[in-house]
Amino acid sequence: MAQTATKPASKAALFEAVRKEFPGTYDKVYTNTAARGLPSRQTRAALDAYLDQLVDGRVDKQANFNAIERVRSKFAQLIKAHPDEIAYTKNVSEGLNMIAGSLPWKAADNVVLCRDVEHPNNIYPWLNLQRRFGVEVRSVPDRDGAIDVDAMLGLIDDRTRLVTVATVTFAPGFRTDVETLGRVCREKDIFFLVDAVQSVGVVATDVEKLKVDGLAVSTQKGLCGLYGMGFLYCRRAWAERITPAALARFSVDLGPDVHEATMGDGHYDLMAGARRFDLGNYNYPAAIAVEPSLDLQLDLGPPVIEDYVCGLSHRLAAGLHQLGLRVSGGPPGPHLAHTVTAGKYARNTHESAGDPDSDALYKHLTDNDVILTVRRGMLRFSLHLYNNEADVDRVLDLVREWQGGKGGA
Ligand SMILES: Cc1ncc(COP(=O)(O)O)c(C=O)c1O
Repeated sequence: MAQTATKPASKAALFEAVRKEFPGTYDKVYTNTAARGLPSRQTRAALDAYLDQLVDGRVDKQANFNAIERVRSKFAQLIKAHPDEIAYTKNVSEGLNMIAGSLPWKAADNVVLCRDVEHPNNIYPWLNLQRRFGVEVRSVPDRDGAIDVDAMLGLIDDRTRLVTVATVTFAPGFRTDVETLGRVCREKDIFFLVDAVQSVGVVATDVEKLKVDGLAVSTQKGLCGLYGMGFLYCRRAWAERITPAALARFSVDLGPDVHEATMGDGHYDLMAGARRFDLGNYNYPAAIAVEPSLDLQLDLGPPVIEDYVCGLSHRLAAGLHQLGLRVSGGPPGPHLAHTVTAGKYARNTHESAGDPDSDALYKHLTDNDVILTVRRGMLRFSLHLYNNEADVDRVLDLVREWQGGKGGA
């Protein structure tokens, strides 16, 4: 990206240069990363070039495969994994289901999770195991909107085969104490699987430090790519204990440079590590689309991004709290990542808030070109590296204006 050649001196100037590469920021306040991140100009250009080739009819398939391997390596680098530990998926659900479907379940094995705050896509895979194999799904209640890690630890026993959490929840958007769970699961040889779609790309992720065995993401949120592609990290030592439930040509190792259409004699070795979860042709355009984001994020450095974006989310949470809004978690603290939610919690209300005040504020914000969503009845503002303090202050001004308009409430 343009800003890499000569890096501006201050952090704010650096991120202002980054912002210019995201046309979606020019005419609005975009706070909807938890739903989907903004793609950059570079992503648009990469996709255009890909489509030109396709339309022209001179597709270089080897170049596509090369892109797949480059992108695999870059994603691995982003989360501090090895490329052999990364498989391609189409979304979070597919990644989670690849693990759920491939472990050797027995009746009365159990899975530990927190149903209250997980996305449904990290609940149904386990309910499916309950129905298919009699696996017990053990759930703890949330603790004031957070995943109660201590309670989860209390449910683990010698039949626990897997523990799963969101690293950051989609609402209220709190961080989970992943490291503590990871440590215990590693000690007890329990598969520790995380849904990291609400953190990767914004929150720095080190899979070894967190001691996760599996991590699933899609590319349209913090990775600022397209719908329809995701990555599954599976720690090599675990992946090589697993026989995938689904198999196709790219899951098997017929040796290097063997054409994709080659069928061996039926004897095969599985690919190393998580590559055994790859199936057939890849979502080439989505891989090509996400590459500029990975380049940018690796270039800036995940801790620098996290620090910058969380500085903004803290400013927003503090400002909303000061204005008297019901901010989830209260004043900013360690629970906060890049997503701030405010309003009355309502478990299954996702389109409108269902609360007249929140609905009116939502309308005021969206009428004034703030892009956000309602999740679990709350207004959800979710920031990324393309946001700035002016975005945050604009939201706060609009809240103030709306409060003034309704008589200083
Ligand atoms: C925490 C979380 N998990 C999963 C999903 C979606 O899963 P999938 O990528 O399979 O559609 C979302 C939101 O889209 C989410 O916020």
